[in-house]
Amino acid sequence: MDRTRREFLSVTAAAMTLSSALPAARAEGEAPPAQAAAPTGYAAPTEIKPIDIINLREIEPAAQKLIPAGGFGYISSAAGDEWTKRENEAAFKRVTIVPRYLTGYKDADRSTTLLGSKVSMPIIVSAMAQHGMAHVSAELGSAKGAGEAGALYTAGSLSNNTMEEIAQASGGAKWFQIYLPADRGVAAEILNRAKAAGYRAIILTIDTVVGSNRETDIRNHFRSPLPLGNFPGVSSAYAASPVKRDLDWKDVDFIQKTTGLPVLLKGVLSPEFAVAAVEHGCAGIQVSNHGGRQLDDVAASIAVLPRIADAVRGRATIIIDGGIRRGQDVFKALALGANAVAIGRPILYGLALGGWMGVKAVLQHLDGELEMTMRLAGVRTIAEISRRFVAPAVETSAAV
Ligand SMILES: Cc1cc2nc3c(=O)[nH]c(=O)nc-3n(C[C@H](O)[C@H](O)[C@H](O)COP(=O)(O)O)c2cc1C
Repeated sequence: MDRTRREFLSVTAAAMTLSSALPAARAEGEAPPAQAAAPTGYAAPTEIKPIDIINLREIEPAAQKLIPAGGFGYISSAAGDEWTKRENEAAFKRVTIVPRYLTGYKDADRSTTLLGSKVSMPIIVSAMAQHGMAHVSAELGSAKGAGEAGALYTAGSLSNNTMEEIAQASGGAKWFQIYLPADRGVAAEILNRAKAAGYRAIILTIDTVVGSNRETDIRNHFRSPLPLGNFPGVSSAYAASPVKRDLDWKDVDFIQKTTGLPVLLKGVLSPEFAVAAVEHGCAGIQVSNHGGRQLDDVAASIAVLPRIADAVRGRATIIIDGGIRRGQDVFKALALGANAVAIGRPILYGLALGGWMGVKAVLQHLDGELEMTMRLAGVRTIAEISRRFVAPAVETSAAV
C-alpha cells in the first residue's frame, strides 16, 4: 500500500469516530458506501437518445420509472420535513417579472463569462455525487451533455468516474467541487490532480460537515453499490467519512495556496458570511442550501440572494442553486444579483432519460425558456438583467 493511501485510510478511520455521533445521518456519498467494485447489481438506465421536454418538472416522474427505487430516493429526497426543498421552488413564485416593451430588440444573447470562462448560457451543472445512480454513463454522460450544450460543468469529488475521465468527456469549461479530506497530503494530491486535469476553479462545499436526516434513504436502507472514481480501492472508507469535519478558514487558505486557482464557497446563506468569503479572497460564492438535503428549515436560496448580492457589491462571482426549474427562475436569479444559476436534480433526471443527450436537452430547454423570458421582458443581454425587471408578488388588496 502506498503512503498516500495508507494515510488516507487511517485518517478516514479516525474521522469515522467523529461521524458516529450521527449514525443514521448521511452526507453526500455517505448514504451510498460502496460494497464491492463489481458486479454492482444496480440496474441504472442505459439508453442514450434525444428527449422532448415541455415542462422540466415533468421529467422527474418520467425518470422515476427508470431509476431503481433506492437511487431515485437518494436523488429526489431531502432532509427532515423537506420544507427547504419545497421552499426553494415555491419562493421563486413570490418574485414577479416586470417586463419592458417597445425596446426594438429582436434577439437575446445568453452568453456570459464566469471567472474567465466564456459560456453560452448562465446555467451550470451543479456538483452532485454519484451520477451512476441515474445512468450507466455516469459523469461521462453528464459532462459530455454539458459540453455539447456549451454550459459549464462542476465535477463532484464523489463521482463514479475519475476526475480525469470526466475532464476528457467534457468539451467545455469545468470546475471541481471538493469535500476536503482531513489529511493535507491526500487533499493536496486531489487538488493537484484537479488542476492538472484542467479544472479552472475549486468549489469547497461548506454545508456538509456532518450528515443529515434524509429519512427516505434511512427508510429505504439505501446503500449505493457503486465505487467512487477518484478514490480507487478506498471508496468504502472515504464514503464512510468523506469530509474534514472541522472545516475552517485555514482550509480555504490551504486550497488557495495549493492550487492557485479561484476558490468558491458553496453553501453560503447569509450576507455576513458572503462578505467574510470575499475578505478571505474567495473568487466566488454559491448561494445554496444543498437542495434542502442538509439542514432543513434554512431559507430558500432565492430568498437570501438579494441581501447577499447587496453585501458582495460585485466583488465576487455569485452562483445560486436550489429549485430552479424555469427560464423565468433563471431570469429572476440574475435580476436579484446572481451571475449564473446551477441546476441539480433535473440534470440527473435528464441523464436517466437520455444519457448525455438528455442532459443536453435539459440545459437547452432551460436556456430556451430563458431566451423567451428575456425577449418578452425586453432584455437583450445577460448584463442588462437587473432589479428593475423584478418586483415582489403583491398581496391582493381586499378593496379590489
Ligand atoms: C443526488 C445529489 C447529489 C448531490 N451531491 C452533492 C455533492 O456531492 N456536493 C455538493 O456540493 N452538492 C451536492 N448536491 C447538491 C447540489 O449541488 C445542489 O446544491 C442542489 O441539488 C440544487 O438543488 P436542485 O436539485 O433543486 O436544483 C447533490 C444534490 C443531489 C440531488
